[in-house]
Amino acid sequence: MGVEIKVEGLTKRFGRQTIWEDVSLTLPKGEISVLLGPSGTGKSVFLKTLIGLLKPEAGSIMIDGRDITKVKEKELYEVRKLFGVLFQDGALFGSQNLFDNIAFPLREHTKKSEREIKEIVLEKLEITGLSGTERKLPGEISGGMRKRAGLARALVLDPQILLFDEPDSGLDPVRTAYLNQLIVDLNSQIEATFLIVTHDVNTARTVPDNIGLLYRRHLAMFGPREMLLSSNEPVVRQFLNAQREGPIGMAEEKDAGELESEKGTELGALPPIPAQLATSDGSTRVSQRLPGTWLREHGVVPPPGSFDGLGIDVPTDEGAGRDEPTDDSPEAADRQPVAAGAPGLPAQRPRRRPYGGA
Ligand SMILES: Nc1ncnc2c1ncn2[C@@H]1O[C@H](COP(=O)(O)OP(=O)(O)O)[C@@H](O)[C@H]1O
Ligand SMILES: [Mg+2]
Repeated sequence: MGVEIKVEGLTKRFGRQTIWEDVSLTLPKGEISVLLGPSGTGKSVFLKTLIGLLKPEAGSIMIDGRDITKVKEKELYEVRKLFGVLFQDGALFGSQNLFDNIAFPLREHTKKSEREIKEIVLEKLEITGLSGTERKLPGEISGGMRKRAGLARALVLDPQILLFDEPDSGLDPVRTAYLNQLIVDLNSQIEATFLIVTHDVNTARTVPDNIGLLYRRHLAMFGPREMLLSSNEPVVRQFLNAQREGPIGMAEEKDAGELESEKGTELGALPPIPAQLATSDGSTRVSQRLPGTWLREHGVVPPPGSFDGLGIDVPTDEGAGRDEPTDDSPEAADRQPVAAGAPGLPAQRPRRRPYGGA
Protein backbone atom coordinates (compact mmCIF):
# COMPACT_ATOMS: atom_id res chain seq x y z
CA MET A 1 0.00 0.00 0.00
CA GLY A 2 2.36 2.68 -1.16
CA VAL A 3 5.92 3.31 -0.11
CA GLU A 4 7.63 6.21 1.57
CA ILE A 5 10.09 8.31 -0.41
CA LYS A 6 12.75 10.05 1.62
CA VAL A 7 14.74 12.70 -0.19
CA GLU A 8 17.77 14.23 1.53
CA GLY A 9 20.09 17.03 0.49
CA LEU A 10 19.20 16.57 -3.17
CA THR A 11 20.91 18.87 -5.67
CA LYS A 12 20.45 18.96 -9.44
CA ARG A 13 22.60 20.89 -11.86
CA PHE A 14 22.85 21.01 -15.62
CA GLY A 15 26.42 22.10 -16.31
CA ARG A 16 26.89 25.27 -14.28
CA GLN A 17 23.16 25.91 -13.89
CA THR A 18 21.84 24.86 -10.48
CA ILE A 19 18.19 23.86 -10.83
CA TRP A 20 17.66 23.32 -7.11
CA GLU A 21 19.89 22.40 -4.21
CA ASP A 22 19.74 20.78 -0.81
CA VAL A 23 16.15 19.60 -1.19
CA SER A 24 14.95 17.41 1.69
CA LEU A 25 11.45 16.06 2.10
CA THR A 26 9.61 12.87 2.94
CA LEU A 27 6.59 11.78 0.95
CA PRO A 28 4.63 9.76 3.52
CA LYS A 29 3.41 6.45 2.22
CA GLY A 30 -0.12 6.38 0.92
CA GLU A 31 -0.53 10.16 1.18
CA ILE A 32 -1.10 12.75 -1.53
CA SER A 33 1.53 15.46 -1.76
CA VAL A 34 1.57 18.44 -4.09
CA LEU A 35 4.71 20.14 -5.36
CA LEU A 36 4.19 23.76 -6.36
CA GLY A 37 6.48 26.33 -7.85
CA PRO A 38 6.66 29.01 -10.53
CA SER A 39 7.32 27.77 -14.08
CA GLY A 40 10.91 26.78 -14.68
CA THR A 41 11.77 26.07 -11.04
CA GLY A 42 12.55 22.45 -11.85
CA LYS A 43 9.38 20.61 -10.85
CA SER A 44 9.50 18.30 -13.86
CA VAL A 45 13.23 17.82 -13.30
CA PHE A 46 12.42 16.80 -9.72
CA LEU A 47 9.96 14.11 -10.90
CA LYS A 48 12.47 12.80 -13.44
CA THR A 49 15.11 12.64 -10.73
CA LEU A 50 12.77 10.68 -8.45
CA ILE A 51 12.33 7.96 -11.05
CA GLY A 52 16.03 7.90 -11.85
CA LEU A 53 15.79 9.37 -15.34
CA LEU A 54 18.10 12.17 -14.22
CA LYS A 55 21.06 11.79 -11.87
CA PRO A 56 21.38 14.32 -9.06
CA GLU A 57 24.75 15.90 -8.27
CA ALA A 58 24.33 15.35 -4.52
CA GLY A 59 21.95 13.82 -2.00
CA SER A 60 19.94 10.64 -1.68
CA ILE A 61 16.51 9.28 -2.54
CA MET A 62 15.52 6.37 -0.30
CA ILE A 63 12.75 4.15 -1.64
CA ASP A 64 12.02 0.76 -0.12
CA GLY A 65 15.37 0.66 1.69
CA ARG A 66 17.40 1.54 -1.40
CA ASP A 67 19.09 4.78 -2.36
CA ILE A 68 18.05 4.95 -5.98
CA THR A 69 20.70 7.54 -6.81
CA LYS A 70 23.34 4.89 -6.08
CA VAL A 71 21.85 1.64 -7.39
CA LYS A 72 22.98 -0.14 -10.55
CA GLU A 73 21.00 0.17 -13.77
CA LYS A 74 19.46 -3.29 -13.32
CA GLU A 75 18.18 -2.54 -9.81
CA LEU A 76 16.94 0.86 -10.92
CA TYR A 77 14.86 -0.93 -13.54
CA GLU A 78 13.24 -2.92 -10.74
CA VAL A 79 12.62 0.17 -8.60
CA ARG A 80 11.03 1.94 -11.57
CA LYS A 81 8.34 -0.71 -11.66
CA LEU A 82 7.03 0.79 -8.40
CA PHE A 83 6.19 3.98 -10.28
CA GLY A 84 3.34 5.06 -12.47
CA VAL A 85 3.83 8.39 -14.17
CA LEU A 86 1.31 10.67 -15.82
CA PHE A 87 3.33 12.98 -18.03
CA GLN A 88 2.22 16.51 -18.79
CA ASP A 89 0.65 15.78 -22.20
CA GLY A 90 -0.49 12.24 -21.44
CA ALA A 91 2.35 11.07 -23.74
CA LEU A 92 0.17 8.70 -25.75
CA PHE A 93 1.16 7.19 -29.09
CA GLY A 94 -0.93 9.09 -31.62
CA SER A 95 -1.23 6.21 -34.08
CA GLN A 96 -2.42 3.64 -31.52
CA ASN A 97 -5.90 3.38 -30.08
CA LEU A 98 -6.46 3.78 -26.35
CA PHE A 99 -6.51 0.03 -25.76
CA ASP A 100 -3.04 -0.45 -27.27
CA ASN A 101 -1.71 2.66 -25.55
CA ILE A 102 -2.85 1.45 -22.16
CA ALA A 103 -1.76 -2.14 -22.82
CA PHE A 104 1.72 -0.99 -23.82
CA PRO A 105 3.46 -1.27 -20.39
CA LEU A 106 1.91 -4.73 -19.86
CA ARG A 107 3.14 -6.00 -23.24
CA GLU A 108 6.53 -4.41 -22.64
CA HIS A 109 7.18 -5.40 -19.02
CA THR A 110 5.13 -8.52 -18.28
CA LYS A 111 4.52 -11.95 -19.76
CA LYS A 112 0.77 -11.71 -19.34
CA SER A 113 -1.48 -13.28 -21.95
CA GLU A 114 -3.59 -11.09 -24.22
CA ARG A 115 -6.64 -12.26 -22.29
CA GLU A 116 -5.20 -11.10 -18.96
CA ILE A 117 -4.07 -7.87 -20.59
CA LYS A 118 -7.56 -7.22 -21.90
CA GLU A 119 -9.03 -7.72 -18.45
CA ILE A 120 -6.59 -5.26 -16.87
CA VAL A 121 -6.97 -2.63 -19.60
CA LEU A 122 -10.76 -2.71 -19.42
CA GLU A 123 -10.62 -2.41 -15.63
CA LYS A 124 -8.33 0.64 -15.77
CA LEU A 125 -10.53 2.20 -18.45
CA GLU A 126 -13.47 1.77 -16.14
CA ILE A 127 -11.68 3.24 -13.10
CA THR A 128 -10.75 6.32 -15.13
CA GLY A 129 -14.24 6.72 -16.56
CA LEU A 130 -13.26 5.78 -20.11
CA SER A 131 -15.25 2.59 -20.64
CA GLY A 132 -16.23 2.17 -24.27
CA THR A 133 -13.48 4.38 -25.70
CA GLU A 134 -10.85 1.67 -26.22
CA ARG A 135 -10.97 1.83 -30.04
CA LYS A 136 -10.59 5.62 -30.18
CA LEU A 137 -7.37 7.29 -31.24
CA PRO A 138 -5.86 9.93 -28.91
CA GLY A 139 -6.60 12.58 -31.53
CA GLU A 140 -10.31 11.75 -31.46
CA ILE A 141 -10.87 12.47 -27.76
CA SER A 142 -10.80 15.58 -25.58
CA GLY A 143 -7.78 16.80 -23.63
CA GLY A 144 -9.38 15.71 -20.36
CA MET A 145 -9.95 12.20 -21.72
CA ARG A 146 -6.35 12.03 -22.95
CA LYS A 147 -5.15 12.83 -19.42
CA ARG A 148 -7.36 10.08 -18.03
CA ALA A 149 -6.07 7.66 -20.66
CA GLY A 150 -2.52 8.57 -19.59
CA LEU A 151 -3.60 7.88 -16.03
CA ALA A 152 -5.11 4.51 -17.00
CA ARG A 153 -1.80 3.60 -18.59
CA ALA A 154 0.10 4.72 -15.48
CA LEU A 155 -2.06 2.32 -13.45
CA VAL A 156 -1.66 -0.94 -15.36
CA LEU A 157 1.40 -2.15 -13.48
CA ASP A 158 -0.30 -1.48 -10.11
CA PRO A 159 2.15 1.22 -9.00
CA GLN A 160 3.06 1.91 -5.38
CA ILE A 161 3.91 5.49 -6.30
CA LEU A 162 2.05 7.71 -8.76
CA LEU A 163 3.62 10.86 -10.12
CA PHE A 164 1.53 13.46 -11.94
CA ASP A 165 3.15 16.24 -13.93
CA GLU A 166 0.65 19.10 -14.14
CA PRO A 167 -2.39 16.88 -14.63
CA ASP A 168 -4.52 20.03 -14.71
CA SER A 169 -2.55 22.00 -17.30
CA GLY A 170 -4.69 22.91 -20.28
CA LEU A 171 -7.91 21.75 -18.63
CA ASP A 172 -10.85 24.01 -17.90
CA PRO A 173 -11.91 24.39 -14.23
CA VAL A 174 -14.72 21.85 -14.53
CA ARG A 175 -12.48 19.21 -16.13
CA THR A 176 -9.87 19.96 -13.46
CA ALA A 177 -12.47 19.41 -10.73
CA TYR A 178 -13.40 16.00 -12.22
CA LEU A 179 -9.76 15.01 -12.52
CA ASN A 180 -9.02 16.08 -8.93
CA GLN A 181 -11.95 14.00 -7.73
CA LEU A 182 -10.63 11.04 -9.70
CA ILE A 183 -7.19 11.49 -8.12
CA VAL A 184 -8.63 11.56 -4.58
CA ASP A 185 -10.87 8.53 -5.25
CA LEU A 186 -8.02 6.63 -6.82
CA ASN A 187 -5.76 7.32 -3.88
CA SER A 188 -8.33 5.88 -1.50
CA GLN A 189 -8.73 2.79 -3.72
CA ILE A 190 -5.12 1.89 -4.51
CA GLU A 191 -3.47 3.49 -1.45
CA ALA A 192 -0.34 4.36 -3.41
CA THR A 193 1.86 7.35 -2.59
CA PHE A 194 0.93 10.27 -4.85
CA LEU A 195 3.00 13.29 -5.87
CA ILE A 196 1.27 15.91 -7.99
CA VAL A 197 3.14 18.74 -9.64
CA THR A 198 0.85 21.64 -10.36
CA HIS A 199 0.61 25.39 -10.32
CA ASP A 200 -3.11 25.34 -9.80
CA VAL A 201 -3.59 26.96 -6.41
CA ASN A 202 -7.08 25.56 -5.96
CA THR A 203 -5.80 22.01 -6.51
CA ALA A 204 -3.01 22.64 -4.04
CA ARG A 205 -5.37 24.04 -1.42
CA THR A 206 -7.96 21.25 -1.55
CA VAL A 207 -6.48 17.96 -2.80
CA PRO A 208 -3.31 17.02 -0.91
CA ASP A 209 -2.29 15.94 2.55
CA ASN A 210 1.06 17.73 2.13
CA ILE A 211 2.32 20.67 0.14
CA GLY A 212 5.82 21.64 -0.97
CA LEU A 213 6.92 24.82 -2.68
CA LEU A 214 10.00 25.13 -4.88
CA TYR A 215 11.23 28.68 -5.19
CA ARG A 216 14.52 30.20 -6.26
CA ARG A 217 16.45 26.94 -6.41
CA HIS A 218 15.32 25.77 -2.97
CA LEU A 219 12.47 23.95 -1.39
CA ALA A 220 10.97 26.90 0.46
CA MET A 221 8.77 24.69 2.62
CA PHE A 222 7.26 21.22 2.75
CA GLY A 223 4.73 19.94 5.25
CA PRO A 224 1.11 19.16 6.03
CA ARG A 225 -1.50 21.13 4.09
CA GLU A 226 -2.72 22.93 7.20
CA MET A 227 0.80 24.07 8.00
CA LEU A 228 1.29 25.77 4.63
CA LEU A 229 -2.22 27.17 4.39
CA SER A 230 -1.79 28.89 7.76
CA SER A 231 1.80 29.96 7.13
CA ASN A 232 2.84 33.60 7.21
CA GLU A 233 6.10 32.89 5.44
CA PRO A 234 5.90 35.49 2.61
CA VAL A 235 6.67 33.29 -0.42
CA VAL A 236 4.42 30.46 0.73
CA ARG A 237 1.67 32.87 1.61
CA GLN A 238 1.87 34.73 -1.68
CA PHE A 239 1.95 31.61 -3.82
CA LEU A 240 -0.72 29.59 -2.06
CA ASN A 241 -3.05 32.54 -2.02
CA ALA A 242 -2.27 33.69 -5.56
CA GLN A 243 -1.49 37.24 -4.49
CA ARG A 244 0.48 39.91 -6.31
CA GLU A 245 1.80 41.29 -3.05
CA GLY A 246 4.92 39.51 -1.89
CA PRO A 247 8.43 38.60 -2.95
CA ILE A 248 7.49 36.77 -6.18
CA GLY A 249 7.41 39.10 -9.17
CA MET A 250 6.39 38.90 -12.79
CA ALA A 251 9.66 37.42 -14.02
CA GLU A 252 10.90 35.71 -10.90
CA GLU A 253 11.80 37.68 -7.81
CA LYS A 254 11.00 41.35 -7.50
CA ASP A 255 13.84 43.84 -7.53
CA ALA A 256 14.76 45.87 -4.47
CA GLY A 257 12.97 48.97 -5.76
CA GLU A 258 9.74 47.14 -6.28
CA LEU A 259 9.90 45.59 -2.82
CA GLU A 260 10.75 48.98 -1.30
CA SER A 261 7.68 50.55 -2.92
CA GLU A 262 5.54 47.78 -1.46
CA LYS A 263 6.87 48.33 2.05
CA GLY A 264 4.08 49.11 4.42
CA THR A 265 1.45 47.64 2.11
CA GLU A 266 -0.01 44.78 4.03
CA LEU A 267 -0.12 41.33 2.54
CA GLY A 268 -3.76 40.49 1.91
CA ALA A 269 -5.49 38.55 4.66
CA LEU A 270 -5.06 34.79 4.46
CA PRO A 271 -8.20 33.12 3.13
CA PRO A 272 -9.85 30.45 5.28
CA ILE A 273 -8.51 26.90 4.98
CA PRO A 274 -11.02 24.95 2.90
CA ALA A 275 -12.08 21.41 3.66
CA GLN A 276 -10.02 18.75 1.94
CA LEU A 277 -11.67 17.23 -1.12
CA ALA A 278 -13.53 14.13 0.10
CA THR A 279 -13.81 10.83 -1.77
CA SER A 280 -16.98 10.62 -3.82
CA ASP A 281 -18.27 7.59 -1.90
CA GLY A 282 -17.47 9.19 1.46
CA SER A 283 -14.83 6.59 2.36
CA THR A 284 -11.88 7.80 4.41
CA ARG A 285 -8.43 7.35 3.00
CA VAL A 286 -6.15 5.14 5.08
CA SER A 287 -3.66 7.93 5.66
CA GLN A 288 -6.24 10.66 6.06
CA ARG A 289 -6.23 12.70 9.26
CA LEU A 290 -9.19 14.58 10.63
CA PRO A 291 -9.37 18.23 9.57
CA GLY A 292 -7.72 20.55 12.07
CA THR A 293 -5.45 17.85 13.53
CA TRP A 294 -2.19 19.52 12.59
CA LEU A 295 -3.45 22.94 13.75
CA ARG A 296 -4.50 21.55 17.12
CA GLU A 297 -1.31 19.55 17.61
CA HIS A 298 0.76 22.66 17.00
CA GLY A 299 -1.53 25.23 18.59
CA VAL A 300 -1.63 27.22 15.37
CA VAL A 301 -4.55 29.59 14.90
CA PRO A 302 -5.76 29.27 11.29
CA PRO A 303 -7.14 32.17 9.24
CA PRO A 304 -10.65 33.17 10.38
CA GLY A 305 -13.42 31.11 8.80
CA SER A 306 -11.28 27.98 8.32
CA PHE A 307 -13.41 24.81 8.14
CA ASP A 308 -16.45 26.98 8.84
CA GLY A 309 -19.71 25.11 9.15
CA LEU A 310 -17.98 21.74 9.41
CA GLY A 311 -18.10 21.67 13.20
CA ILE A 312 -14.35 21.22 13.41
CA ASP A 313 -12.57 22.40 16.50
CA VAL A 314 -9.51 24.51 15.68
CA PRO A 315 -7.42 26.80 17.90
CA THR A 316 -8.69 30.39 18.05
CA ASP A 317 -7.16 33.65 19.21
CA GLU A 318 -9.51 33.75 22.22
CA GLY A 319 -8.27 30.34 23.34
CA ALA A 320 -4.62 31.25 22.91
CA GLY A 321 -2.68 31.52 26.13
CA ARG A 322 -5.25 29.70 28.22
CA ASP A 323 -4.04 26.19 27.74
CA GLU A 324 -0.41 26.98 27.10
CA PRO A 325 1.91 24.43 28.66
CA THR A 326 3.83 25.88 31.59
CA ASP A 327 6.36 23.10 32.00
CA ASP A 328 9.37 22.83 29.72
CA SER A 329 9.28 19.11 29.10
CA PRO A 330 9.88 17.90 25.52
CA GLU A 331 6.14 17.23 25.25
CA ALA A 332 5.47 20.82 26.15
CA ALA A 333 7.84 21.99 23.44
CA ASP A 334 5.83 19.91 21.00
CA ARG A 335 2.70 21.74 21.96
CA GLN A 336 4.20 25.20 21.35
CA PRO A 337 2.75 27.10 18.43
CA VAL A 338 4.71 26.28 15.33
CA ALA A 339 5.30 28.88 12.72
CA ALA A 340 6.87 28.12 9.38
CA GLY A 341 9.68 25.70 9.87
CA ALA A 342 9.65 25.61 13.65
CA PRO A 343 10.61 22.49 15.66
CA GLY A 344 8.90 19.22 15.06
CA LEU A 345 9.54 19.15 11.34
CA PRO A 346 13.31 18.88 11.21
CA ALA A 347 13.72 17.68 7.64
CA GLN A 348 11.00 19.92 6.36
CA ARG A 349 11.71 23.37 7.65
CA PRO A 350 12.70 26.06 5.19
CA ARG A 351 16.38 25.92 4.39
CA ARG A 352 18.64 28.90 5.00
CA ARG A 353 17.25 32.03 3.37
CA PRO A 354 15.42 30.18 0.63
CA TYR A 355 14.26 33.33 -1.08
CA GLY A 356 15.08 37.01 -1.39
CA GLY A 357 18.04 38.58 0.36
CA ALA A 358 21.65 38.14 -0.59
N1 LIG B 1 17.70 17.72 -19.87
C1 LIG B 1 17.96 19.01 -19.56
N2 LIG B 1 19.14 19.57 -19.84
C2 LIG B 1 19.41 20.85 -19.51
N3 LIG B 1 18.54 21.68 -18.86
C3 LIG B 1 17.34 21.17 -18.55
C4 LIG B 1 16.97 19.81 -18.88
N4 LIG B 1 15.71 19.59 -18.43
C5 LIG B 1 15.32 20.76 -17.86
N5 LIG B 1 16.27 21.70 -17.93
C6 LIG B 1 16.20 23.06 -17.37
O1 LIG B 1 15.80 22.96 -16.01
C7 LIG B 1 14.98 24.05 -15.64
C8 LIG B 1 13.73 23.56 -14.95
O2 LIG B 1 12.90 22.90 -15.90
P1 LIG B 1 11.53 22.17 -15.52
O3 LIG B 1 11.79 21.10 -14.53
O4 LIG B 1 10.94 21.74 -16.81
O5 LIG B 1 10.69 23.34 -14.85
P2 LIG B 1 9.14 23.29 -14.37
O6 LIG B 1 8.64 21.89 -14.61
O7 LIG B 1 9.17 23.68 -12.93
O8 LIG B 1 8.43 24.32 -15.18
C9 LIG B 1 14.72 24.84 -16.92
O9 LIG B 1 15.58 25.96 -16.91
C10 LIG B 1 15.10 23.89 -18.01
O10 LIG B 1 15.58 24.58 -19.13
MG1 LIG C 1 7.18 21.09 -15.86
